[in-house]
Amino acid sequence: MKLSDLKKFKNHEIITCLTAYDASFADLFDQCGIDVILVGDSLGNVIKGEENTLGVTIDDMCYHTQAVANKIQNSLLIADMPYQTYSNPNDAIKNANLLLKAGAQVIKIEGGEECEAVFKSFQDEQIPVCGHLGLQPQSIQELGGYKVQGREEASAQKILKDAKLLEELGVEVMVLECIPTKLGKEISESISIPTIGIGAGNNCDGQVLVSYDMLDINLGRKPKFVKNFMTGNSSIEEAVKLFISEVKSRKFPSADYSYE
Ligand code: KIV
Repeated sequence: MKLSDLKKFKNHEIITCLTAYDASFADLFDQCGIDVILVGDSLGNVIKGEENTLGVTIDDMCYHTQAVANKIQNSLLIADMPYQTYSNPNDAIKNANLLLKAGAQVIKIEGGEECEAVFKSFQDEQIPVCGHLGLQPQSIQELGGYKVQGREEASAQKILKDAKLLEELGVEVMVLECIPTKLGKEISESISIPTIGIGAGNNCDGQVLVSYDMLDINLGRKPKFVKNFMTGNSSIEEAVKLFISEVKSRKFPSADYSYE
């Protein structure tokens, strides 16, 4: 899928997204009809077995992006830029180009206003970008843990302001992680680019989950927003198809998998 096709989903069809890190899962998800495949830096947790995403390198990301790109035929491929690979515009451009060369169609970075110079440089270089606001796992040390963001008025206003700024800075699509349903709705209605939620309620323009989480392959932490789609299914294919149908019909995420 082309990025221009994905942008047409807004207000028409809900976007489905799962993470993948290798060719076999990418092929299966692609064949099942997933709209977007994200090579997430969550590979630090689920592939490398680390506590957080901070140890993921650009080489890790390029290796896994290339593996996924080898088998994608229909889905759009977004790849994460890992921790400290976009601390300044020069590094950001250099590392983004490595991911694009590995097969990513869009790169994703975490952050708002504090990354303005980097977003501007991507815009100048015409590098397609996905934003990531709300809970930003690469800032886990500053945040003091995996906590819901935007519950207080000031923090909600900052996330909303950042979302509008990112749209102005040419960001094409935006992940919203771990925020109250009301804020996910307000942001999605305030900007013209698609939002893809993870723990951000069912009013976002799309939904993403870490594939291992929704397949109930779990090494530890299980956030409230994770639904086990293997329940009642006997194959990964069935679980992915159920995820697609529940997201497209807005059945998932229900209040049980969302935050107030
Ligand atoms: O790294 C990742 O898998 C992500 C998703 C949680 C959105 O960024």
